[in-house]
Amino acid sequence: MAKPIADDIVVRQVDVGETEQLMTFLLAHYYPEEPLTAGTHPPEPEAADKEFLLSNVPFGTCFVALHEGRIVAAVVAGPKDSHEPEHMAEEARKYAGGKWGSILHLLSAVETATDVCRRFSVPSCLHVHALGVDPQLRGRNLGGRLMETVAQRGRDLGHQLVSVDCTSVYSARLVQRLGYQLINTLRYVDHLDASGQQVIRPPPPHESVQTFVLHL
Ligand SMILES: CC(C)(COP(=O)(O)OP(=O)(O)OC[C@H]1O[C@@H](n2cnc3c(N)ncnc32)[C@H](O)[C@@H]1OP(=O)(O)O)[C@@H](O)C(=O)NCCC(=O)NCCS
Repeated sequence: MAKPIADDIVVRQVDVGETEQLMTFLLAHYYPEEPLTAGTHPPEPEAADKEFLLSNVPFGTCFVALHEGRIVAAVVAGPKDSHEPEHMAEEARKYAGGKWGSILHLLSAVETATDVCRRFSVPSCLHVHALGVDPQLRGRNLGGRLMETVAQRGRDLGHQLVSVDCTSVYSARLVQRLGYQLINTLRYVDHLDASGQQVIRPPPPHESVQTFVLHL
């Protein structure tokens, strides 16, 4: 059911029939600025990246904020378990060589370092993969409202933890405000490939990917 979060904005779960509208929003307001996407070439996300994000919709863990029927913010989340570090390493190998492969190279390293399910001895965790707000509506805590909605959904589904790899300084600030605990920082300048080259080169002010968790 749609829930009003301000006079004119409602938040609701993304329906499986709405993946096209969700992707249109993400392509306009999430991907162009998201530091891993902006920090690798070419600028456009690969098909496998987009398919991965949309594959989370059937879990019922993705939400949008709507203003007069138009999507103005979105969050994509999905479950993971203790096999995630191995799974991510396998995915990174599978896509090695391209843009999505570079992004997975970093995310896999982060997953290995954080290993949240084993670290906190929980059977599962709800992981936030993407968060975006229309630039015209930033600063109204819409991202925060969506993160709170994800946490509530996580509780309802029986997860004990929400995790997020904040690739942007803005999302890191946002989750800190919500009481999330910082468990890992990986500076982009320190993440190198086998030949010693920096894998991701995001524009300033983004300097690191910071992993945060919230106990539910
Ligand atoms: C991360 C994001 C969702 C946060 O948006 P939000 O929920 O509106 O953020 P907040 O309400 O916490 O904003 C706090 C302040 O930071 C500013 N801000 C937020 N994101 C900003 C951005 N990308 N660039 C410049 N300023 C930004 C807001 O305008 C606000 O400023 P104010 O205090 O002067 O009003 C948004 O930056 C975004 O969509 N970024 C692009 C995609 C991305 O990088 N996602 C995160 C990947 S993990």
